[in-house]
Amino acid sequence: SIPVITIDGPTASGKGTVAHRVAHQLHFHYLDSGALYRLTALSALRHEVPLNDEHGLAKVAERLPCRFAGDQIWLGNENVTSAIRAEEVGNTASKIAALPTVRHALAGLQLGFRIAPGLVADGRDMGTVIFPHAVLKVFLTASVEARAERRYKQLIDKGFPATMEDLLKDLRERDARDSNRAIAPLKPAEGAHILDTSHMTADEAVEQVLKWYAA
Ligand code: CDP
Repeated sequence: SIPVITIDGPTASGKGTVAHRVAHQLHFHYLDSGALYRLTALSALRHEVPLNDEHGLAKVAERLPCRFAGDQIWLGNENVTSAIRAEEVGNTASKIAALPTVRHALAGLQLGFRIAPGLVADGRDMGTVIFPHAVLKVFLTASVEARAERRYKQLIDKGFPATMEDLLKDLRERDARDSNRAIAPLKPAEGAHILDTSHMTADEAVEQVLKWYAA
């Protein structure tokens, strides 16, 4: 069967970078499941679907006209690769991710990414809910300060405004929301390897994941 490696963890833990590089090394496909939540959020913001309209949001998720082309992400005929990285979109994504109907609508889409020769899936519930039979499960963490610093650099590089103070507050709120929600709360999957990357480079983290996979 087609191997899946899951890499879950809190916001700005470096999952995206690590998962992407691991996939590249193994010539596996890569699923950025957070991007699906961000796409749903962006689409909802654009269509002014209120954040308490669970049914409307589920419809948005079900009919998401998204396309992943290499590193580029499209929503309809608009390239939204940078637009979905805005903090407002991430915060909205984290709010709508607490809705069971939205999660349900996106689950099928995520399963569809499991294509030969293999998949590296990054998110919050890849190992706990979507791919419980993954051959390798990793839970990537880092201190809130290390994560705020990484996010700060990312946002400034992309030309988004950011302050460390706001980011620390955002991160703590997002952690609380992701961990305390009733459905698919953020937590290490059974059998997951825990990797604290506070004092690690992305390459060191990649190396560790590849070692676990080879073992
Ligand atoms: O970049 P960051 O790690 O903050 O977020 P992301 O991975 O792009 O995901 C955005 C939001 O979607 C997160 O805050 C989660 O609440 C939600 N999400 C989720 O609930 N389940 C996933 N598998 C992936 C993301």
